[in-house]
Amino acid sequence: MRCIKCPVKASVELRRHNSSFCSPHYLEFVRNQLARNVKRLRMFAPEDRILVAISGGKDSLALWDLLLEAGYSAVGLHIQLGIGEYSVRSAEVSQDFAQSRGAELIEFSLDQELGMGVPLLSRVLRRPPCSGCGLNKRYLFNKIALERGFTVVATGHNLDDEAATLMGNVLRWQREQLARQSPSLESNHPQMVRKVKPLYTLTERETASYCLIRGIDYVVEECPNAKGAHSLLYKDILNRIETESPGTKQQFFQGFLARMRPALQREQTVDLLACEECGQPTTGEVCSYCRMKDRVQNYIAVNAPNGASRRDT
Ligand code: AMP
Ligand code: FES
Ligand code: ZN
Ligand code: ZN
Repeated sequence: MRCIKCPVKASVELRRHNSSFCSPHYLEFVRNQLARNVKRLRMFAPEDRILVAISGGKDSLALWDLLLEAGYSAVGLHIQLGIGEYSVRSAEVSQDFAQSRGAELIEFSLDQELGMGVPLLSRVLRRPPCSGCGLNKRYLFNKIALERGFTVVATGHNLDDEAATLMGNVLRWQREQLARQSPSLESNHPQMVRKVKPLYTLTERETASYCLIRGIDYVVEECPNAKGAHSLLYKDILNRIETESPGTKQQFFQGFLARMRPALQREQTVDLLACEECGQPTTGEVCSYCRMKDRVQNYIAVNAPNGASRRDT
Protein backbone atom coordinates (compact mmCIF):
# COMPACT_ATOMS: atom_id res chain seq x y z
CA MET A 1 0.00 0.00 0.00
CA ARG A 2 1.43 3.35 -1.09
CA CYS A 3 0.89 6.87 0.22
CA ILE A 4 -1.74 8.69 -1.82
CA LYS A 5 0.53 11.77 -1.97
CA CYS A 6 3.90 10.22 -2.88
CA PRO A 7 5.42 6.87 -3.96
CA VAL A 8 6.58 5.95 -0.43
CA LYS A 9 5.08 2.97 1.43
CA ALA A 10 2.12 4.07 3.55
CA SER A 11 2.28 3.76 7.34
CA VAL A 12 -1.28 4.84 8.23
CA GLU A 13 -4.45 3.69 6.50
CA LEU A 14 -7.69 5.68 6.90
CA ARG A 15 -10.50 3.56 5.52
CA ARG A 16 -13.19 6.17 6.12
CA HIS A 17 -11.26 8.60 3.89
CA ASN A 18 -10.28 5.82 1.48
CA SER A 19 -6.69 7.01 1.92
CA SER A 20 -3.30 5.92 3.17
CA PHE A 21 -0.34 8.09 4.05
CA CYS A 22 3.39 7.85 4.68
CA SER A 23 4.40 9.36 8.05
CA PRO A 24 5.24 12.92 6.84
CA HIS A 25 2.07 13.11 4.75
CA TYR A 26 0.01 11.75 7.65
CA LEU A 27 1.29 14.58 9.87
CA GLU A 28 0.35 17.01 7.11
CA PHE A 29 -3.15 15.48 6.98
CA VAL A 30 -3.61 15.95 10.76
CA ARG A 31 -2.30 19.54 10.66
CA ASN A 32 -4.71 20.31 7.81
CA GLN A 33 -7.63 18.84 9.77
CA LEU A 34 -6.81 21.10 12.72
CA ALA A 35 -6.41 24.20 10.52
CA ARG A 36 -9.67 23.46 8.69
CA ASN A 37 -11.67 22.90 11.89
CA VAL A 38 -10.30 26.05 13.53
CA LYS A 39 -11.12 28.12 10.46
CA ARG A 40 -14.51 26.63 9.65
CA LEU A 41 -15.89 26.99 13.19
CA ARG A 42 -13.93 30.21 13.92
CA MET A 43 -12.49 28.58 17.05
CA PHE A 44 -9.70 31.07 17.66
CA ALA A 45 -7.36 33.52 15.94
CA PRO A 46 -3.56 33.95 16.19
CA GLU A 47 -4.00 36.68 18.82
CA ASP A 48 -6.09 34.48 21.15
CA ARG A 49 -4.57 33.15 24.38
CA ILE A 50 -5.48 29.46 24.47
CA LEU A 51 -5.68 27.38 27.64
CA VAL A 52 -5.27 23.73 26.60
CA ALA A 53 -6.71 21.21 29.06
CA ILE A 54 -4.09 18.46 29.35
CA SER A 55 -5.06 15.06 30.76
CA GLY A 56 -1.79 13.37 29.78
CA GLY A 57 -3.64 11.23 27.21
CA LYS A 58 -2.99 11.07 23.47
CA ASP A 59 -5.66 13.53 22.38
CA SER A 60 -4.79 16.50 24.58
CA LEU A 61 -1.03 16.06 24.09
CA ALA A 62 -1.48 15.79 20.30
CA LEU A 63 -3.59 18.95 20.41
CA TRP A 64 -1.05 20.87 22.47
CA ASP A 65 1.77 19.73 20.16
CA LEU A 66 -0.19 20.82 17.06
CA LEU A 67 -1.08 24.23 18.53
CA LEU A 68 2.49 24.96 19.63
CA GLU A 69 3.83 23.86 16.25
CA ALA A 70 1.37 26.12 14.47
CA GLY A 71 2.67 29.05 16.54
CA TYR A 72 -0.35 29.65 18.77
CA SER A 73 -0.04 30.95 22.32
CA ALA A 74 -1.07 27.73 24.07
CA VAL A 75 -0.57 27.19 27.81
CA GLY A 76 -1.38 23.76 29.30
CA LEU A 77 -3.60 23.15 32.33
CA HIS A 78 -3.40 19.84 34.16
CA ILE A 79 -5.76 19.04 37.02
CA GLN A 80 -4.49 16.40 39.43
CA LEU A 81 -7.57 14.39 40.30
CA GLY A 82 -6.10 12.18 43.03
CA ILE A 83 -6.97 8.89 41.29
CA GLY A 84 -4.01 6.84 42.58
CA GLU A 85 -1.25 5.76 40.20
CA TYR A 86 -3.28 6.87 37.19
CA SER A 87 -3.14 10.52 38.32
CA VAL A 88 0.53 10.31 39.30
CA ARG A 89 1.45 9.04 35.84
CA SER A 90 -0.83 11.57 34.10
CA ALA A 91 0.88 14.47 35.89
CA GLU A 92 4.37 13.13 35.09
CA VAL A 93 3.63 12.69 31.41
CA SER A 94 2.12 16.19 31.17
CA GLN A 95 5.12 17.74 32.95
CA ASP A 96 7.60 15.86 30.74
CA PHE A 97 5.84 17.03 27.58
CA ALA A 98 5.78 20.66 28.76
CA GLN A 99 9.47 20.51 29.63
CA SER A 100 10.41 18.95 26.28
CA ARG A 101 8.67 21.82 24.43
CA GLY A 102 9.68 24.60 26.84
CA ALA A 103 5.95 25.26 27.27
CA GLU A 104 4.10 26.57 30.33
CA LEU A 105 1.98 24.08 32.27
CA ILE A 106 -0.41 25.26 34.98
CA GLU A 107 -0.95 22.51 37.57
CA PHE A 108 -3.88 22.38 39.87
CA SER A 109 -4.65 19.83 42.55
CA LEU A 110 -8.20 18.89 43.52
CA ASP A 111 -6.91 17.76 46.88
CA GLN A 112 -5.52 21.23 47.59
CA GLU A 113 -8.47 23.13 46.14
CA LEU A 114 -11.29 21.03 47.55
CA GLY A 115 -9.70 19.04 50.36
CA MET A 116 -10.18 15.72 48.60
CA GLY A 117 -9.63 13.92 45.32
CA VAL A 118 -12.15 12.17 43.04
CA PRO A 119 -12.49 8.83 44.95
CA LEU A 120 -13.49 10.37 48.28
CA LEU A 121 -15.56 13.04 46.53
CA SER A 122 -17.56 10.27 44.88
CA ARG A 123 -18.32 8.71 48.27
CA VAL A 124 -19.25 12.05 49.85
CA LEU A 125 -21.59 12.97 47.00
CA ARG A 126 -22.85 9.38 46.63
CA ARG A 127 -22.48 9.74 42.88
CA PRO A 128 -20.29 7.92 40.32
CA PRO A 129 -16.69 9.24 40.31
CA CYS A 130 -17.02 10.60 36.76
CA SER A 131 -19.89 12.85 37.78
CA GLY A 132 -18.01 14.84 40.47
CA CYS A 133 -14.85 14.70 38.36
CA GLY A 134 -16.59 16.19 35.31
CA LEU A 135 -18.26 18.93 37.36
CA ASN A 136 -14.91 19.99 38.85
CA LYS A 137 -13.08 19.92 35.53
CA ARG A 138 -15.70 22.00 33.68
CA TYR A 139 -15.81 24.56 36.46
CA LEU A 140 -12.06 24.83 36.92
CA PHE A 141 -11.30 25.09 33.19
CA ASN A 142 -13.57 28.13 32.98
CA LYS A 143 -12.53 29.73 36.27
CA ILE A 144 -8.79 29.38 35.71
CA ALA A 145 -9.11 30.66 32.13
CA LEU A 146 -11.05 33.73 33.28
CA GLU A 147 -8.76 34.53 36.20
CA ARG A 148 -5.64 34.29 34.08
CA GLY A 149 -6.81 36.16 31.01
CA PHE A 150 -7.22 33.28 28.53
CA THR A 151 -9.72 33.92 25.76
CA VAL A 152 -10.53 30.31 24.92
CA VAL A 153 -10.33 26.81 26.48
CA ALA A 154 -9.38 23.93 24.16
CA THR A 155 -9.93 20.27 25.04
CA GLY A 156 -8.73 17.14 23.25
CA HIS A 157 -12.16 15.55 22.62
CA ASN A 158 -12.00 13.43 19.46
CA LEU A 159 -14.57 12.01 17.04
CA ASP A 160 -15.06 8.84 19.12
CA ASP A 161 -15.77 10.93 22.24
CA GLU A 162 -18.24 13.16 20.43
CA ALA A 163 -20.05 10.34 18.61
CA ALA A 164 -20.36 8.32 21.86
CA THR A 165 -21.69 11.38 23.74
CA LEU A 166 -24.16 12.00 20.94
CA MET A 167 -25.32 8.38 21.09
CA GLY A 168 -25.87 8.67 24.86
CA ASN A 169 -27.78 11.93 24.47
CA VAL A 170 -29.94 10.51 21.67
CA LEU A 171 -30.71 7.27 23.51
CA ARG A 172 -32.08 9.34 26.40
CA TRP A 173 -33.39 12.19 24.20
CA GLN A 174 -31.61 14.78 26.29
CA ARG A 175 -32.62 17.91 24.42
CA GLU A 176 -30.66 20.40 26.50
CA GLN A 177 -27.44 18.40 26.27
CA LEU A 178 -28.00 17.91 22.54
CA ALA A 179 -28.44 21.65 22.01
CA ARG A 180 -25.18 22.33 23.85
CA GLN A 181 -23.12 19.58 22.19
CA SER A 182 -20.80 21.42 19.86
CA PRO A 183 -17.10 21.45 18.98
CA SER A 184 -17.18 25.24 19.32
CA LEU A 185 -19.27 26.79 22.09
CA GLU A 186 -19.45 30.57 22.08
CA SER A 187 -19.49 32.37 25.40
CA ASN A 188 -23.03 33.40 26.32
CA HIS A 189 -22.18 35.08 29.62
CA PRO A 190 -19.45 37.60 30.57
CA GLN A 191 -18.03 35.05 33.04
CA MET A 192 -17.95 32.24 30.49
CA VAL A 193 -14.96 31.56 28.23
CA ARG A 194 -15.39 30.06 24.73
CA LYS A 195 -14.81 26.26 24.62
CA VAL A 196 -13.46 24.45 21.58
CA LYS A 197 -12.59 20.90 20.54
CA PRO A 198 -10.27 21.32 17.55
CA LEU A 199 -9.66 17.56 17.06
CA TYR A 200 -13.33 16.59 16.78
CA THR A 201 -12.89 15.21 13.27
CA LEU A 202 -10.08 12.79 14.20
CA THR A 203 -10.62 9.35 15.75
CA GLU A 204 -8.78 7.96 18.78
CA ARG A 205 -6.74 5.76 16.50
CA GLU A 206 -5.74 8.78 14.45
CA THR A 207 -4.55 10.88 17.41
CA ALA A 208 -2.65 7.81 18.71
CA SER A 209 -0.93 7.44 15.31
CA TYR A 210 -0.03 11.14 15.42
CA CYS A 211 1.60 10.72 18.86
CA LEU A 212 3.43 7.60 17.74
CA ILE A 213 4.94 9.32 14.70
CA ARG A 214 5.79 12.46 16.70
CA GLY A 215 7.35 10.38 19.50
CA ILE A 216 4.97 11.76 22.14
CA ASP A 217 4.79 9.67 25.32
CA TYR A 218 1.24 9.56 26.70
CA VAL A 219 -0.80 7.67 29.31
CA VAL A 220 -2.19 4.65 27.50
CA GLU A 221 -4.38 3.29 30.31
CA GLU A 222 -7.95 4.52 30.66
CA CYS A 223 -8.96 6.09 33.96
CA PRO A 224 -9.81 3.12 36.28
CA ASN A 225 -13.23 4.69 36.90
CA ALA A 226 -14.13 4.42 33.21
CA LYS A 227 -14.54 0.63 33.56
CA GLY A 228 -18.14 -0.26 32.77
CA ALA A 229 -18.96 3.33 31.73
CA HIS A 230 -21.71 3.72 29.14
CA SER A 231 -19.41 5.82 26.97
CA LEU A 232 -17.09 2.81 26.46
CA LEU A 233 -20.04 0.63 25.43
CA TYR A 234 -21.19 3.25 22.91
CA LYS A 235 -17.65 3.59 21.54
CA ASP A 236 -17.46 -0.17 21.10
CA ILE A 237 -20.82 -0.33 19.32
CA LEU A 238 -19.90 2.57 17.03
CA ASN A 239 -16.57 0.89 16.22
CA ARG A 240 -18.35 -2.32 15.26
CA ILE A 241 -20.62 -0.39 12.90
CA GLU A 242 -17.60 1.52 11.56
CA THR A 243 -15.79 -1.74 10.71
CA GLU A 244 -18.72 -2.88 8.56
CA SER A 245 -19.41 0.56 7.17
CA PRO A 246 -16.44 2.98 7.29
CA GLY A 247 -17.43 6.63 7.67
CA THR A 248 -20.58 6.01 9.75
CA LYS A 249 -19.19 7.59 12.91
CA GLN A 250 -18.27 10.74 11.05
CA GLN A 251 -21.62 10.91 9.23
CA PHE A 252 -23.46 10.42 12.53
CA PHE A 253 -21.76 13.34 14.27
CA GLN A 254 -21.34 15.68 11.29
CA GLY A 255 -24.95 15.01 10.27
CA PHE A 256 -26.10 15.98 13.74
CA LEU A 257 -24.10 19.24 13.62
CA ALA A 258 -25.36 20.14 10.16
CA ARG A 259 -29.01 19.02 10.36
CA MET A 260 -30.17 18.69 13.95
CA ARG A 261 -28.25 21.08 16.14
CA PRO A 262 -29.30 24.35 14.45
CA ALA A 263 -32.97 23.50 15.08
CA LEU A 264 -32.33 22.54 18.72
CA GLN A 265 -30.27 25.67 19.28
CA ARG A 266 -33.11 27.93 18.14
CA GLU A 267 -35.31 26.40 20.85
CA GLN A 268 -32.83 27.20 23.61
CA THR A 269 -33.81 30.20 25.68
CA VAL A 270 -32.05 29.60 29.00
CA ASP A 271 -31.01 32.82 30.73
CA LEU A 272 -27.78 32.50 32.64
CA LEU A 273 -27.41 34.28 35.99
CA ALA A 274 -24.32 34.89 38.13
CA CYS A 275 -23.89 32.43 41.03
CA GLU A 276 -24.50 34.21 44.34
CA GLU A 277 -21.43 32.58 45.88
CA CYS A 278 -18.78 32.60 43.15
CA GLY A 279 -20.16 34.76 40.32
CA GLN A 280 -19.83 32.02 37.69
CA PRO A 281 -22.71 31.45 35.25
CA THR A 282 -25.60 29.29 36.45
CA THR A 283 -29.29 28.75 35.77
CA GLY A 284 -30.22 28.86 39.49
CA GLU A 285 -29.15 31.06 42.39
CA VAL A 286 -26.13 29.02 43.45
CA CYS A 287 -24.14 27.02 40.88
CA SER A 288 -23.75 23.24 41.10
CA TYR A 289 -20.04 23.60 41.88
CA CYS A 290 -20.68 25.79 44.94
CA ARG A 291 -23.45 23.45 46.11
CA MET A 292 -21.05 20.55 45.80
CA LYS A 293 -18.31 22.49 47.60
CA ASP A 294 -20.69 23.22 50.51
CA ARG A 295 -21.38 19.49 50.90
CA VAL A 296 -17.67 18.72 50.83
CA GLN A 297 -16.92 21.37 53.46
CA ASN A 298 -19.68 20.03 55.70
CA TYR A 299 -18.24 16.55 55.38
CA ILE A 300 -14.75 17.77 56.27
CA ALA A 301 -16.06 19.78 59.24
CA VAL A 302 -17.76 16.67 60.65
CA ASN A 303 -15.30 13.95 59.72
CA ALA A 304 -11.90 15.63 59.69
CA PRO A 305 -12.17 19.01 61.44
CA ASN A 306 -8.38 19.24 61.81
CA GLY A 307 -7.84 18.24 58.24
CA ALA A 308 -5.98 15.23 59.64
CA SER A 309 -7.31 12.48 57.40
CA ARG A 310 -8.78 14.28 54.46
CA ARG A 311 -6.75 12.38 51.90
CA ASP A 312 -8.33 9.68 49.79
CA THR A 313 -7.63 6.12 50.67
P1 AMP B 1 -12.04 12.79 29.06
O1 AMP B 1 -13.29 13.39 29.59
O2 AMP B 1 -11.18 12.16 30.10
O3 AMP B 1 -12.24 11.97 27.83
O4 AMP B 1 -11.17 14.04 28.58
C1 AMP B 1 -11.59 14.91 27.59
C2 AMP B 1 -10.68 16.11 27.55
O5 AMP B 1 -10.74 16.82 28.80
C3 AMP B 1 -9.21 15.76 27.40
O6 AMP B 1 -8.85 15.61 26.04
C4 AMP B 1 -8.53 16.95 28.03
O7 AMP B 1 -8.49 18.03 27.13
C5 AMP B 1 -9.48 17.32 29.16
N1 AMP B 1 -9.06 16.68 30.45
C6 AMP B 1 -9.40 15.46 30.92
N2 AMP B 1 -8.83 15.22 32.13
C7 AMP B 1 -8.10 16.32 32.44
C8 AMP B 1 -7.28 16.70 33.54
N3 AMP B 1 -7.08 15.89 34.59
N4 AMP B 1 -6.68 17.91 33.52
C9 AMP B 1 -6.88 18.76 32.48
N5 AMP B 1 -7.63 18.45 31.40
C10 AMP B 1 -8.24 17.26 31.36
FE1 FES C 1 -12.62 11.66 35.91
FE2 FES C 1 -11.86 9.22 35.54
S1 FES C 1 -11.00 11.01 34.69
S2 FES C 1 -13.32 9.88 36.93
ZN1 ZN D 1 3.68 10.40 1.33
ZN1 ZN E 1 -20.80 29.16 42.29
